[in-house]
Amino acid sequence: MADDTRTYDDAGTHGRPRTYGDTQAFGDRQTYDDTRTYWDTRHADHDDLASGAHIGLDRPGNEIFYAQRLGTLLSLIGDLSSTAAPLFTLDAGCGKGYFARALARCGHRVDAFDTSPHAIDHARAEGGGPRYALCALDEWRSPWPYDIVVCVDVLFHVLDDEEWAAGLRNLASLVRVAGRLIVTDTVTEAVGGEDTAGPVTDGDYITYRPTGAYRAELEPLGLRHTLSRPYGFREDRVGFHVFTRTH
Ligand SMILES: C[S@@+](CC[C@H](N)C(=O)[O-])C[C@H]1O[C@@H](n2cnc3c(N)ncnc32)[C@H](O)[C@@H]1O
Repeated sequence: MADDTRTYDDAGTHGRPRTYGDTQAFGDRQTYDDTRTYWDTRHADHDDLASGAHIGLDRPGNEIFYAQRLGTLLSLIGDLSSTAAPLFTLDAGCGKGYFARALARCGHRVDAFDTSPHAIDHARAEGGGPRYALCALDEWRSPWPYDIVVCVDVLFHVLDDEEWAAGLRNLASLVRVAGRLIVTDTVTEAVGGEDTAGPVTDGDYITYRPTGAYRAELEPLGLRHTLSRPYGFREDRVGFHVFTRTH
């Protein structure tokens, strides 16, 4: 697909492109390869904050967006950190590593992966402790289960339901008993208290899914929905969902 079929438009939620790709040729949804190409190009073309947050925000706006979410994420993980006994954490779909580095600074031991080579190259060059890999949500394996698995603003960019479910189930399999899986998607409190009945497509590269869709996948695997926390950032409908492994 030629780049000139793509129009980056900074006006949308999460800075989504208004037109992505040749919708005549591909239908109105992206292909799997298009999604990876989109993210790798975005990581190559935009700075460390805009590439993983909002293209449409200026740098101070993205600093606030990241800092606010980091504060919430830390409050959900808890304040127990010790260099003698760090939490073993995974940042799945880490982009350029903002959250991975922050978790490492807070004393946690961090594995992190993403499908974008540009993002992983950038994250590795930044250093700061995390161990990075090029990998997809449904592919990551670990010989040890994690205390905490986080996946920030990735799953609603996975448009294909099967790929989304396979990625989510894989992340769930990596969480130890009593550990937490923290994912982000639409939070009902942020959209007026009503869970949508099904997925909601927003633009060309977002599919929001209701909390019930996450529960339906995760509860049979032994993970209970324990908490949701909206970002509370401007009009954003997204927030964190915490699932805790009970067995
Ligand atoms: C909005 S960015 C968020 C990045 C990072 N979590 C952050 O908040 O800074 C979405 C990221 O998900 C990655 N991604 C998309 N689909 C993925 C998949 N199936 N497996 C792993 N990473 C994926 C993209 O490459 C991109 O870096």
